[in-house]
Amino acid sequence: MLITLEGIDGSGKSTLMEALRFSLADLNPVFTREPGATWVGDAVRRAVKERLDPVTEALLFTADHAAHLAAVIRPALNERRLVISDRYTDSRFAYQSVTLEGTVPSPLSWLQALHAGWSLRPDRTFLLILPVKQALERIRDHSRREHFESEEILANVQARYLDFAAADPTRFVIIDALKGKEEIHAFAEAEIRRIVGWSQTSRRS
Ligand code: TMP
Repeated sequence: MLITLEGIDGSGKSTLMEALRFSLADLNPVFTREPGATWVGDAVRRAVKERLDPVTEALLFTADHAAHLAAVIRPALNERRLVISDRYTDSRFAYQSVTLEGTVPSPLSWLQALHAGWSLRPDRTFLLILPVKQALERIRDHSRREHFESEEILANVQARYLDFAAADPTRFVIIDALKGKEEIHAFAEAEIRRIVGWSQTSRRS
């Protein structure tokens, strides 16, 4: 079972991930992230701190995804582990479809074609949504802002995420990221336990 957490910078994904690390320990999940779960991801994380051209950047994030799938996700799923990833392919589809605008003719189709045939679709995706102004306030104090963190880019990225969720409502679970940390955590934990329970039942039958 592959569960992913998505949302714009400042949406509280990482805080939720940390809370789930403790509360879901009995399920022995593999907690992972993009970019950065392998040495390829570490290199990509360093590379995107620079302003690279958008195609290079999209290919680097996709290379990280390929390494992540091969080294972490597929082996864990083969062992029937629960995998929870902080960011995954929807991050590329949302962020790079914005940054590639004007560089390739149909950025989303280009990105989808790039992933076709080898990537894996998550079973469930929690999408944290909040007004962009609030997200920016939350990350205002970060000393090194990444270049995606402008209001216009994040507004466009979040709009893409919402389009994906509308197109695939059985996979996406939208969370109001303005709710309290504890409430968000309790909801996500209960949902994950329910989904995992389902998957175990359906596997037995
Ligand atoms: P993080 O701070 O949530 O770990 O993500 C790092 C930044 O990388 C964040 O601004 C989103 C961006 N990103 C992409 O643009 N494309 C991707 O495919 C991924 C995984 C992240």
